[in-house]
Amino acid sequence: MIRFEHVTKRYADGTIAVDDLSFEVAEGELVTLVGPSGCGKTTTMKMVNRLIEPTGGRIFLDGEDISTVDPVQLRRRIGYVIQQVGLFPHKTVLENTATVPHLLGVKKSVAQQRAAELLDLVGLDPKTYGSRYPEQLSGGQRQRVGVARALAADPPVLLMDEPFGAVDPVVRERLQNEFLRLQSQVRKTVLFVTHDIEEAVRLGDRIAVYGQGAIEQFDAPAAVLGAPATDYVADFVGADRGLKRLSVTPIEESDLDQPPVVHLDDPLPADIARWAVVLDGDDNLHGWISGEQARLGKGTVREHARRMEAWLPVGASLKQAFATMLQHDAGWIAVIDREERGRFLGVLTPARLHEALRRSIDADAQAVPRTEVKVESVASVGPR
Ligand SMILES: Nc1ncnc2c1ncn2[C@@H]1O[C@H](COP(=O)(O)OP(=O)(O)OP(=O)(O)O)[C@@H](O)[C@H]1O
Ligand SMILES: [Mg+2]
Repeated sequence: MIRFEHVTKRYADGTIAVDDLSFEVAEGELVTLVGPSGCGKTTTMKMVNRLIEPTGGRIFLDGEDISTVDPVQLRRRIGYVIQQVGLFPHKTVLENTATVPHLLGVKKSVAQQRAAELLDLVGLDPKTYGSRYPEQLSGGQRQRVGVARALAADPPVLLMDEPFGAVDPVVRERLQNEFLRLQSQVRKTVLFVTHDIEEAVRLGDRIAVYGQGAIEQFDAPAAVLGAPATDYVADFVGADRGLKRLSVTPIEESDLDQPPVVHLDDPLPADIARWAVVLDGDDNLHGWISGEQARLGKGTVREHARRMEAWLPVGASLKQAFATMLQHDAGWIAVIDREERGRFLGVLTPARLHEALRRSIDADAQAVPRTEVKVESVASVGPR
């Protein structure tokens, strides 16, 4: 969908911001560009919508050389969330969001209707926030408006330059989760710039790790963490990359232990050693019961079962599992099907969590060779 072929940008003062860059982003793929300040991320991005012209090489959008496309036409196909959000201070949230469709000549009522839908999509109630001005929003809300505005013309391609850069880590994580949910619905082709490796790893289908003006490694997150291609990348992802892997390794059904299980309407069992998981009639997770309660109590399980506080759906990350265990001071967490009140699948214990992490690191160490990144091999890699 987006293809860079030997692209170079040398600014008038001689600074080479981007040096012979080649890579390809597939349709519907989210690629994060990550690297230190000044390494050429924004320059890369602005060349895609021709805010900056390359001094060498070519960029293709959907097979078309963008240097042959009228920049105004081009930008209609590309949503852009700029570094520092850049909302118009004198326009309301609704007007800000409707800016692009409005410029494209869409009727005002239609543009505003669409803007309201988008605000809703990014988690801002248009009734509450639509008529506010940017200064009347929190930092995180402003960033949501920036995302909504970029989506307003329904472009197939989104360029996002540190869209969540200006908010604290907690809000940031929430915005990232919302954005992942959003992306699973809208499936745009996204170039997402960040200088935060954690963010790059969480969001990217693939990550381009930038050195100075060039890509050092272009790979799936697990591969970048598991098998850094160069010492520079290893250094950049950090000594705690084993820990970072927690956030990209999902809980699988085979990771789970099967504890004793009882049902709500069972008589209290006398033979539970320490605890049992309690399920309802549909085998959905209800709670748990301790062995002691079961031995000393009277009646059925229903009267003695306690609510389950620590549970997650299968596919959640090991990091979420670990955080949930710490938060609830729990020695295990229940794992259910993906649905909210899903079927009970088993429990994850710290020992099993550790095994899962080891398995994931070993798998990568074997599967991913440590090779230099070559232009050709980069361009031919497909999405995950
Ligand atoms: N108009 C310009 N003229 C000269 N040099 C420039 C110009 N714009 C950017 N540069 C230089 O090009 C290099 C890359 O800049 P760029 O803005 O792409 O970096 P970045 O990776 O986005 O950094 P940051 O994380 O700080 O936003 C930097 O050394 C910068 O100083
Ligand atoms: Mg930048």
